Amino acid sequence: MQKKTDISQIRFEYKKGSIDIKNIDLNPIKQFKKWIKEAIKNKVFEPSAMSLSTVNKRNNVSSRIVLLKGIEKNSFVFYTNLRSRKSSELNINKRVAAVFWWPQIGKQVRIEGYVKIVKKKEADNYFSTRSRNSQIGAWTSNQSSILKDRKTLIKRYKIIEKRFENKNITRPNFWSGYEINPFLFEFWQVRENRLHDRIVYKRINKKKWKKYRLSP
Ligand SMILES: Cc1cc2nc3c(=O)[nH]c(=O)nc-3n(C[C@H](O)[C@H](O)[C@H](O)COP(=O)(O)O)c2cc1C
Repeated sequence: MQKKTDISQIRFEYKKGSIDIKNIDLNPIKQFKKWIKEAIKNKVFEPSAMSLSTVNKRNNVSSRIVLLKGIEKNSFVFYTNLRSRKSSELNINKRVAAVFWWPQIGKQVRIEGYVKIVKKKEADNYFSTRSRNSQIGAWTSNQSSILKDRKTLIKRYKIIEKRFENKNITRPNFWSGYEINPFLFEFWQVRENRLHDRIVYKRINKKKWKKYRLSP
């Protein structure tokens, strides 16, 4: 008989921390950079992984993990296939929510904002830094479309590999990046007795944010 795992009894020790609303940055993007650096220092696995939620035309919500590839001019950039499910949803509704969870340091960051496609040149630059295999992979996959079998995918990869043999691989026009322009952040820190710290930043105008504390 298979042994049952009692999920309700799983416990982990997090590194202790706290948020002092008076001492954290006035700017949530600067605060975010401090926290992701702390996550990297504490060897969080894939600290740039974020859960990204989008909404379709029926108001159904879907989430998936994508990697944050940079913070450019106060916006959070990720890359993907422009014909994917997420992209078709983003074409209809620009609003997204993203969540980072850094278990080793007991920290969570929530972001809400609007997306915009990055400039072609920026996408070209980023694409050129990717490994050749990933570049071929981007050309190969019709992300989120139904695939007959894995064999078909591998065959397609090989055809594209051959097509670009001894050639520079350019960015497919169906693959690019989105920047999330945030209007809300929440910084969450695990604390003792479930009395966690939660600090929200709400955008007031282009330069100013207001912050306040929420009950855990
Ligand atoms: C750790 C991790 C990182 C990922 N990074 C990306 C990424 O940067 N871009 C991307 O399009 N998909 C990424 N994926 C795959 C997505 O989670 C998802 O399967 C894919 O984008 C298709 O989603 P969609 O059908 O909702 O568009 C990643 C998955 C994991 C688990």
